[in-house]
Amino acid sequence: MKWDPAEYLRFSGQRGRPFADLMSRVDAADPSYVVDLGCGPGNLTATLAQRWPGADIEGLDASAEMIERAQAEVGGTERLRFATADLRDWSPRREVDVLLSNATFQWVPGHLDLLASLTATVRPGGWFAFQVPGNFGEPSHTELAAVRSSDRWRPRLADVELATPWVAEPEVYLERLIALGADVDVWETTYVQVLAGEDAVLRWMHGTALRPVLSVLNDTERAAFVEEYAARLRAAYPQRDFGTVLPYRRIFVVAQIGVAQ
Ligand SMILES: C[S@@+](CC[C@H](N)C(=O)[O-])C[C@H]1O[C@@H](n2cnc3c(N)ncnc32)[C@H](O)[C@@H]1O
Repeated sequence: MKWDPAEYLRFSGQRGRPFADLMSRVDAADPSYVVDLGCGPGNLTATLAQRWPGADIEGLDASAEMIERAQAEVGGTERLRFATADLRDWSPRREVDVLLSNATFQWVPGHLDLLASLTATVRPGGWFAFQVPGNFGEPSHTELAAVRSSDRWRPRLADVELATPWVAEPEVYLERLIALGADVDVWETTYVQVLAGEDAVLRWMHGTALRPVLSVLNDTERAAFVEEYAARLRAAYPQRDFGTVLPYRRIFVVAQIGVAQ
């Protein structure tokens, strides 16, 4: 899927907060090697270089557009590097002290089966932290699926993969990582986000889950699809005097490796 970093960064404040909340629970004092899988435009990865100035930090992402943006805006130092890579094929150059992934595993079907190999890349006592959205039952997603599978659009969009509920419930992550010998901290939060401007939820979705659909449509089809979807979103998320409320559930997992509970 082709990403548009500028579109994605439009809500960088709201998208950045879960990253900060996740990393606040990683108690690594002076890590030497830190890897961010699915680093996107790299703005959040760069905050790690400030927190751990002595660390060697790598941001990896499957999207060439995201990595270009990261290299242009924040990357390129010896200590902070960005590269295109698919996390499913990735292997580290040496043992990792902090492995993290923010808002990415929901794009990776079967990521539960990767937890063992990812955990194995982290040195004993090191950290593996990730965050995934837990909101696939919300109207932002269900209305998208409903429009896509309507009589009008089903034939045209049959092959499109939506960002799907490839996300497990918090307890499943807990059990899997405990079975791998980690000390695990799992929690969930619903951020009651207030978005500014017209059709704010539509603009939010433009940066992520709507992209696979729009990428296969021509301009006329795209406008028609967006109009239908936007009308449903306006009904589900009415714009109010102070903005549009988009509740957003997120699941957080922080595991310290080789330190069984
Ligand atoms: C929602 S963005 C999150 C970006 C960043 N972590 C952040 O929090 O701002 C999801 C990112 O996951 C990347 N991604 C999806 N599947 C991937 C895979 N198999 N390997 C590496 N990156 C992947 C996408 O290219 C995209 O940049």
